[in-house]
Amino acid sequence: MKIVVIGGSGLIGTKLVNKLRQLGHEVVAASPTSGVNTITGEGLAEALAGAQVVVDVANSPSFEDKAVLAFFETSGRNLLAAEAAAGVGHHVALSVVGTDRLLQSGYFRAKMAQEDLIKASKVPYTILRSTQFFDFMGGIAQSATDGQTVRLSPALMQPVVSDDVAAALADVTLGSPVNGTIELAGPEQFRLDELVRRFLSAHQDARQVVADVHARYFGAELNDQSLIPGDNPRIAPTRFEDWLRRSRPQK
Ligand SMILES: NC(=O)c1ccc[n+]([C@@H]2O[C@H](COP(=O)([O-])OP(=O)(O)OC[C@H]3O[C@@H](n4cnc5c(N)ncnc54)[C@H](OP(=O)(O)O)[C@@H]3O)[C@@H](O)[C@H]2O)c1
Repeated sequence: MKIVVIGGSGLIGTKLVNKLRQLGHEVVAASPTSGVNTITGEGLAEALAGAQVVVDVANSPSFEDKAVLAFFETSGRNLLAAEAAAGVGHHVALSVVGTDRLLQSGYFRAKMAQEDLIKASKVPYTILRSTQFFDFMGGIAQSATDGQTVRLSPALMQPVVSDDVAAALADVTLGSPVNGTIELAGPEQFRLDELVRRFLSAHQDARQVVADVHARYFGAELNDQSLIPGDNPRIAPTRFEDWLRRSRPQK
């Protein structure tokens, strides 16, 4: 199959491209670095010519409210129009578990807009909604840091490692469109403040994590349902401690 991975140079994109190539597929890793830009349209029609499946794992360079909404709306519109013109038979997108419960956040309003465009288009689709990546704990800490303090909600979460997300996406990519949403989560639940504390401690980071039920997660207040999947998620195998042991800096 010819498969185009939009955002093919990113964290998930790189892993997905490698996996699909190992399975023998013709994969285009498309992103601005390789001359394919879903905002300007540059290189899009050429990349999509003859493709059966397009996987969208691009992310916005800015998380500022207006910029991120403009990114996902413009990118989604241009991409879906180019796919319809090229006769692409399956659009796969990576989104986030709980997006519809996190609409106080500009980032999640933008992800919701991305999902709505997909559902309104005529291209058959599958949306994979994943929970937070283990690899994103540093980014979460950074977004909640003020001086030496990291203020985070103690809400429940069920994070997953990026390698397992790429594996699940590869599976979805090679399957038939479900015209619906599949959820993916890791094997264990944690409290957000506690997990970031463990991550920082393993990286000898001296910042103090303070639990605060009103602390906002990218603009949204959380409760114990916000980040947790529904009844039938796919459960990825990798445990947080095993990943942390492998990824922490060697002394
Ligand atoms: N972080 C989490 O915990 C989490 C959880 C669930 C779902 N997700 C979703 O996972 C997706 C992928 O995240 P990631 O962390 O793998 O992203 P990432 O590493 O930040 O990579 C972003 C990718 O988007 C590409 N890109 C940026 N602007 C583009 C444009 N105009 N046209 C085409 N491509 C463009 C970049 O290309 P260049 O390298 O060429 O700039 C890069 O390949 C996101 O949609 C995110 O919402 C994330």
